[in-house]
Amino acid sequence: MIKIYAPASIGNVGVGFDILGAAIVPINGDLLGDFVTIKLSTQFKLVNKGIFANQLPRNIKNNIVWKCWLKFCQFIKKNIPVSIILEKNMPIGSGLGSSACSIVATLVAMNEISNKPLNASELLFLMGEIEGEISGSIHYDNVAPSYLGGLQLILEDSKIISQKIPHFKNWFWIIAWPGINISTSEARKILPKQYTKEICIKNSRYLSGFIHALYSQQPQLAAHLMQDFIAEPYRMKLLPNFLNVKENIKKIGAISCGISGSGPAIFSISDDICIAKKISLWLKNNYLQNNIGFVHICFLDLKGARKIG
Ligand code: HSE
Repeated sequence: MIKIYAPASIGNVGVGFDILGAAIVPINGDLLGDFVTIKLSTQFKLVNKGIFANQLPRNIKNNIVWKCWLKFCQFIKKNIPVSIILEKNMPIGSGLGSSACSIVATLVAMNEISNKPLNASELLFLMGEIEGEISGSIHYDNVAPSYLGGLQLILEDSKIISQKIPHFKNWFWIIAWPGINISTSEARKILPKQYTKEICIKNSRYLSGFIHALYSQQPQLAAHLMQDFIAEPYRMKLLPNFLNVKENIKKIGAISCGISGSGPAIFSISDDICIAKKISLWLKNNYLQNNIGFVHICFLDLKGARKIG
């Protein structure tokens, strides 16, 4: 019996649409992500548990875990009957890489139980394919950090899909999910098909500047350059009062704030734990729309998917 955990993640990281992703872990020692427990069996079996199991489709063939199992077996050209328990602890359509958590945990578990027929880049390729089927187009900015940990730069080259890049160790990442859901495929459909040359140049300037600031360890410059000209202007209307929320948490002292993935979760950053706690409290009181929403103060999770127990 093997149990695998895959952490939640922040897609886009404010400035790298589909290109940057960060795995996160609460600073209080909790784990934020999905778990998959697997053992060999006579036929495929799946049990859904966890806080958000009630959000999963009733038809097993629409469950991500089943899709992953099928794809994995097709890829290695071998049927591996397994019994799986999915602990679905991430809300679906939250903007925190919920589907990626299930995909990564299931594929890592399948690979482990089958004596590792796939290497890391084959596994990541498969994770991206399945994420693409679910969300409408392939993007690695949740699966790569959830699998590999840390801050990931998506290269999507035929040989190297993603690589870890430097981060600031003293940054606290405050994430808030308001308790409502937005489908990633819908949030992708509302984006323009084309952008002007000015926007393309501006986006390249901010993204390359951000990467430069990471490598030269200039946190203030990096935080200043975390601006989104690709998705935020079009998606913010899907989030409750986003501009007002952003203005308020910047007043409290956040050095950056943006939409996490396709939303409605948001992230903000501070290098001061007192400010991080104030932001967290403000978001709990003002951004959450119901009692299933949550706020966590996080660090980057540098380990990515891992065996538990
Ligand atoms: N890069 C993806 C998007 C992340 O913004 O659509 C989805 O979580």
